[in-house]
Amino acid sequence: MPAKSKSSHLFYDNTWTELLDAGKDFGDLELTVRFIERVGFPEKDERILDIGCGIGNLCQVLYEWGLRKITGIDISEVAIAEARRRVPGVDLRCMSAMDLDFPDDSFDECFAFDVLEHLPDVRRHLEEVRRILVPGGRYLIQTPNILTNVPFETVRRKIVGPGTNWKTFHPSLQSCWGLKRILPLAGFSHVKFVRIPPLSSYKISQMSFPFNFLFANGPWERLPIFLTTNFYVVAMS
Ligand SMILES: C[S@@+](CC[C@H](N)C(=O)[O-])C[C@H]1O[C@@H](n2cnc3c(N)ncnc32)[C@H](O)[C@@H]1O
Repeated sequence: MPAKSKSSHLFYDNTWTELLDAGKDFGDLELTVRFIERVGFPEKDERILDIGCGIGNLCQVLYEWGLRKITGIDISEVAIAEARRRVPGVDLRCMSAMDLDFPDDSFDECFAFDVLEHLPDVRRHLEEVRRILVPGGRYLIQTPNILTNVPFETVRRKIVGPGTNWKTFHPSLQSCWGLKRILPLAGFSHVKFVRIPPLSSYKISQMSFPFNFLFANGPWERLPIFLTTNFYVVAMS
């Protein structure tokens, strides 16, 4: 394993160990499910890859929806061990999203929820996804907006003290213009942004007053896409 991926593997192992010891999770399943419902469920016989699957929350939901050809990968062995314990019916592997160890055209759909922003080289990752998707396959992405995430995390750190260090956790935050440019460069077409307001019980529970109040009452439906908190994107291979 190259030095860089080994160090990120240890970084995410430590992060997952701390989260699991504290009884916490990472990611927003409620909004992920809302997005998939909005853009249409996968067909039952489709081959699905959940990239950066963490402890397998989405894999479990997909399994409960009746899908059986589900693979989940994550760089963290700790997360994958926990995912295997929780969702025994799913093929779960420890693998980097930068080097997808699958033959060309292996999947009908790929998902990456809250993952792109963690990767050292997004262009390389997208080219890998494009390669393993069948022609006409669908890539669903959710990733935070650099324009809103950086100020939010900076203010939050000043007020509530050290928590997420966005530069360490999110080295590859994107703007909507960046995504619109890089997805076609990696070979994707029909890039579509879907508006999903960020109002989930998970997000609101992560904040203390007055942030939770302001968040719950924000003008989410009226914001232009380039100012939304997170991008929900459908890209076709
Ligand atoms: C914020 S969590 C999201 C987990 C899950 N997708 C969800 O929505 O609950 C980001 C995940 O990406 C994984 N990750 C980070 N870098 C990765 C990489 N290079 N390859 C694969 N997974 C990676 C982390 O271990 C972590 O599980």
